[in-house]
Amino acid sequence: MKNKYLYIQTFGCQMNVHDSEQMAALLSGNGYKLTDNMKMADLIILNTCSIREKAAQKVYSQLGRIGKLKEQNRELIIGVGGCLAQQLGTKFHKKVGHLDFVFGTHNIHLLPQMVLAIEKKRKKITEIDFHKSLNSIGVYVPPPADAISAFVTIMQGCNNFCAYCVVPYLRGREISRPSDDIIEEVKKLAGNGIREVTLLGQNVNSYGKIFDNGLNFTSLIKRIGKISGIERIRFTTSHPRDLSVELINCFAEEEKLCKHIHLPVQSGSNRILELMNRGYTVEDYIKKIDHLRKLTPGISITSDVIVGFPGETQKDYQETIDMMGKIRFDSLFSFKYSEREGTAAQKLKEKVEEGEKLRRLEQLQILQDQHTLEKNTSLEGSRQELLVEGKSRNSESDLMGRTSSWKIVNFKGELDMIGKLVDVKISKAYLHSLRGKIANN
Ligand code: 5AD
Ligand code: SF4
Repeated sequence: MKNKYLYIQTFGCQMNVHDSEQMAALLSGNGYKLTDNMKMADLIILNTCSIREKAAQKVYSQLGRIGKLKEQNRELIIGVGGCLAQQLGTKFHKKVGHLDFVFGTHNIHLLPQMVLAIEKKRKKITEIDFHKSLNSIGVYVPPPADAISAFVTIMQGCNNFCAYCVVPYLRGREISRPSDDIIEEVKKLAGNGIREVTLLGQNVNSYGKIFDNGLNFTSLIKRIGKISGIERIRFTTSHPRDLSVELINCFAEEEKLCKHIHLPVQSGSNRILELMNRGYTVEDYIKKIDHLRKLTPGISITSDVIVGFPGETQKDYQETIDMMGKIRFDSLFSFKYSEREGTAAQKLKEKVEEGEKLRRLEQLQILQDQHTLEKNTSLEGSRQELLVEGKSRNSESDLMGRTSSWKIVNFKGELDMIGKLVDVKISKAYLHSLRGKIANN
């Protein structure tokens, strides 16, 4: 039988990255092998994102290029999944005539049968129903032989309805996966050589609240911590309102839980936080950060900020800058507000002008770079434990590992260190990485 090749392109967040891994795992059962050469593919899937307008635009440009490939090869099968597919449904077929199938965020498990149906009888398919079951998130992804880290989805959807965000509409309501399934999956991954797991969900802090099975998020982490072979546990993403004292304590208590938290603050103005429907004040947020830092010195704090939310004045923006000065994040993802169809913020008047949003964003990013470099520089001379991920991107003769606090360190080492924990002394800090030397015991 002729080899069949699958090309998957992922747009958006880590959740989408893991969804793509699941798609590839499922389609290997249909005889598809992954390729990173789009021109070789028999099947192309774009796993789309719709969180901001820019992400959606990128999908359309790529679909334009793929249309040219289809003109040369009428047999080529083209599908779109993910958030933009969920949002547009059948309208996607009308917008882009060369699509074969559109599938939503709850329909990944249907991929094998959709592809089979198209192979047998060319017809257009759309599957975007929301399912109560967790079929689409429980797909096991066998890790590649050299993999060290893996994602594990622990929950699906979001109930928060932040005013700017489309996620609750496109990924559905929040449901937690049964803890026994999660533990089984992590054990299997550990048995296949995985040393680090990242637990995924839109709001992992509320794990276990819906479909309660007796465990909350902290107890889930502690159970995973007992699995032999697993050295490190990470998670993303948390909501500041739901960050419990128990979880703050867990960073200090559970050795395997990495000393890093991504805690999106979104704004430094209480007025804007209220308009955003975030459910906390800047003071609440700072109190939690202080508590985290007190119990776990050296913990790294990263965050997300949106500038130019409707009604954001120069004063509100200045409050975000002031908050950054007080907190000093290790790094920050910052975005211009992007209006999304169907969200509460779409109805708000007083939109901030595009040029002004850009000015605010650029100024904020310059400040953050100073803070990031300052944080990294404070690590010079310190000893850090790294999980070695592989060869460095910068130089063939270097290895790359990450600190527990999620910082990249390049260093000279032996290939057999890959996948192991090693200690290094930090010799030099840069904006995006650190340089280290193997430390003698
Ligand atoms: N515009 C700009 N940024 C957004 N985010 C979510 N929705 C929007 C939007 N409409 C950002 C938030 C969130 C991150 C994943 O994306 O900061 O934390
Ligand atoms: Fe969107 Fe808010 Fe849910 Fe995050 S918590 S996915 S920003 S609605």
